[in-house]
Amino acid sequence: MNYWEDPGPGYGVLPARAAVRSDAPRLSLNGQWRFKLSPSVVETGFEAVDFDDSEWDWLPVPSSWQLHGHGSPAYTNQKYPFPVDPPYVPDENPTGDHRLVFELPDAWNGPTVLRFDGVDSCARVWLNGVELGVTRGSRLPAEFAVGDVLRPGRNVLAVRVHQWSSGSYLEDQDMWWLPGIFRDVTLISRPVDSMDADVFVHADYADGAGVLRVESSPGAVVRIPSLDVEVPCGETVTIPGVEPWSAEVPRLYDAVVELPGERVSLRIGFRTVDIVDGVLRVNGRRIVFHGVNRHEHDPVFGRAVPVERMREELLVMKRHNINAIRTSHYPPDSRLLELCDELGFWVMDECDYETHGFFLLDWRGNPADDPRFLDASLDRMRRTVERDKNHPCVVMWSLGNEAGVGSNLTAMAAWTRDRDPSRPVHYEGDLSCADVDVYSRMYASHAEVEAIGKRAEKPLEDPALDARRRAMPFVLCEYSHAGGNGPGGLPEYEELFDRYERCQGGFLWEWMEHGILRADGSYGYGGDFGEELHDGTYVLDGLVFPDLRPQPVLAEVHKVYEPVRLSVVDDMLTITNRYDVLDTSHLRLQWDVADEGIVAVRGTLDLPVISAGDSATVQLPQLPVQNRERWLTIRAVLVHDTPWAPAGHEVAFTQTHLAPHSPAPTPASAPAPHLRGQRLNRELVDLGPGRFDGRTGRLVRLSGWGIEHVPLELWRAPTQHDARTWDATTLDRKTRWANAGLDRLRYRTVSVEPTADGLTVVTMVGAAATDARVLTTYRWTTDGHRLTADVDVEPLGEWSVPWARLGVTFGVPAGFQTMTWFGLGPGQAYPDSRSAARIGRHTRTIDDLQVPYLYPQENGARGDVRWAELSGSAGKLRLAGDPHLAVTVRRWTIADLAAAEHPADLRPGDRVWITLDALQHGLGSPTSGAPILPPHDLQPQQHSFRFSLGS
Ligand code: GAL
Repeated sequence: MNYWEDPGPGYGVLPARAAVRSDAPRLSLNGQWRFKLSPSVVETGFEAVDFDDSEWDWLPVPSSWQLHGHGSPAYTNQKYPFPVDPPYVPDENPTGDHRLVFELPDAWNGPTVLRFDGVDSCARVWLNGVELGVTRGSRLPAEFAVGDVLRPGRNVLAVRVHQWSSGSYLEDQDMWWLPGIFRDVTLISRPVDSMDADVFVHADYADGAGVLRVESSPGAVVRIPSLDVEVPCGETVTIPGVEPWSAEVPRLYDAVVELPGERVSLRIGFRTVDIVDGVLRVNGRRIVFHGVNRHEHDPVFGRAVPVERMREELLVMKRHNINAIRTSHYPPDSRLLELCDELGFWVMDECDYETHGFFLLDWRGNPADDPRFLDASLDRMRRTVERDKNHPCVVMWSLGNEAGVGSNLTAMAAWTRDRDPSRPVHYEGDLSCADVDVYSRMYASHAEVEAIGKRAEKPLEDPALDARRRAMPFVLCEYSHAGGNGPGGLPEYEELFDRYERCQGGFLWEWMEHGILRADGSYGYGGDFGEELHDGTYVLDGLVFPDLRPQPVLAEVHKVYEPVRLSVVDDMLTITNRYDVLDTSHLRLQWDVADEGIVAVRGTLDLPVISAGDSATVQLPQLPVQNRERWLTIRAVLVHDTPWAPAGHEVAFTQTHLAPHSPAPTPASAPAPHLRGQRLNRELVDLGPGRFDGRTGRLVRLSGWGIEHVPLELWRAPTQHDARTWDATTLDRKTRWANAGLDRLRYRTVSVEPTADGLTVVTMVGAAATDARVLTTYRWTTDGHRLTADVDVEPLGEWSVPWARLGVTFGVPAGFQTMTWFGLGPGQAYPDSRSAARIGRHTRTIDDLQVPYLYPQENGARGDVRWAELSGSAGKLRLAGDPHLAVTVRRWTIADLAAAEHPADLRPGDRVWITLDALQHGLGSPTSGAPILPPHDLQPQQHSFRFSLGS
């Protein structure tokens, strides 16, 4: 059997140990290596010391070689991109031979290991022509003893990396397949006689004291200078007065373990994780995961993520009230966990283990249940736990993701529990939860989560297992898929986490879009690299763009996850502390009152010190109502700088309407030259500033501008969520809308009648091959300056699909650049994703109103707009909605947006297109199976609305 197809874990690798910082000499072997890619495995003798590699390319290590011009990346979600025949892989197995010549420093001596922190997917390693061994388990470290092979002076390291191996069957995560030596390579000196010296910190927190025991080599001593602690390893010591570690107060104590010949530096966090009465607790308190699933991805470097980027990712998360990370679906770079310890995150650390492609085969032959893969399965779990066991941030181990059920998973769970009973074990793929401590689901609907919250979920067949599972805490290891524009429905999940003690939050899918930066500056997704088989845009499903710029949904997440809730009833403000641990002393309250978006008064409010889980009420200042629309905004902001945000950073906000709505003032002396529509001839009708086509009744001119007018819109450029369903037996909205012809409506003018006070236009709207129609009636009036339309729509015939929107579109000249509006903003707002938008007066350029989703789709609607003013070289155009309308302004049509595959396909035309929506379909999260909540599912309905236009 070829070694890369052996289902075992590899050979020659030392026992796994904790990733630690020590003062033992280290030599980084990162840098420029010689590299040659072959399309299959060919014996070249490249491992020989005197092999001539002078013709080979240079490649940086660490790297994903495809992102340096060698081969192409490929993306699949579930499908294995090779025939499923475990443990075998095809002959076409891209193989990268890597060579490095390095000089050993003069002073170097003694036992040494060569450490690889991550090689995807299988590596065979030679030093100075002598084979050291083979490793698999891409996101896991491997250390080889280099013993006598290491020479003074010149050394030659040769590493052969195969893209495919038996390990690939265990690494079928939803991401790019990116082979390479993608994490650090280091030569590390080891203490004499203790090659496998390890350190295992047990640092509990109970009753105000830390309880410490460090396992290590005989004779080792642990010291924590700031606590005056010095104890032999192996002894348990109780340390009064320590501050516990939590994601909110990540208190770390610097410690040193003195081993014979090595000093290991540690940052110890004292904390105890337990499950009591069905509730997961840390240091005796229930915690709630406001989390994200985080893959390791860099748009330029692939899996070789720079540490500065990791820190930046975490800072962006902290600033958006995210407190937890599931390391989907493998252990991250160790430095990420160091940062999580330091900055404070609850982490679910997941093993590099997924066999999802077997789902497509009804799990036939699943390696998770194949004894040939037992050793590799255990090896992966062992390497995960051993590497990461000292991180206080890790509060749960996860066996992996979507690997079905099987005896290997059972063995992994048993080993984990035995090795580290201090952390619960998680795995979502086995509904019976037989091997785990926490009940977990992905993408359960709100209704299902509610039933679980009541401990009233559908029972398992086995009563004992059912009783066991029903007593467990519940988490959503994935929920609310962020593919493209969406998801909607976040606040409703959050309410369930608030309401049911058992529902301890979840991890949004997913943190970052995995776009790959291409030479033309655009981001590629599945299918952009000539893949035979791929899953297209499914890899674009993050809360942040690949360059970490927030997508609009991140503002929604910030609002929904806010750790204090502010709510106003009458003149009282209630503050609810939703932190797991912190009281409110680090926050202060600021308020302002704005009249039609212009701030009139500001102030501060005393914020009482409220303990985690408690609430308090304070009196608001007396604020007189006013003639214009008046809103009170209250913000909770940081008092002091933190490591992740400066003083003044907003943590939470609320808004309250203080005065009855009064319409935007109209000019007092409005002349009224044309109160009645004037039919000039068969072709034209004039009304105030408007001119209409006399046959179709469509507006063709307004205040001197040529106008195009689409009387009714029911469609939108499908979002990624519109274009996909979880369940293959139901049709996605995009297909249903296309079948119903919402994208190809035809308009039949029924009548165009000047009336005593304006113009009435009746249009029948429908699509080919169906009798589902909409009768649309416009009653236009004018005050001489502006046109006002009262629009009635009435569905007729049999409608069997929801509508994407109910709106009208106007094409105006391209010379408008900017929009100022009074309504929700500054970001977009959709019916089920609008918590973050606030009422105010906002200004954006038309270009900045667009959200450059990597796959173009509906975006950028501003909600509840009372009035908007477009301005630019074309002049000033004022719009108003009554009741409020959503306004979307673009330089391309809805059809252009729908046809584009990348943002660069969208080119400004000779018009600006304004769509005014009275109603919109929500965004939902159907990609992941949770049905859209009923109020946001826009069913065909009779509806009336009003808008006005003028200069
Ligand atoms: C889950 C899976 C994730 C990702 C997600 C996308 O089933 O665990 O890795 O594929 O679906 O919706």
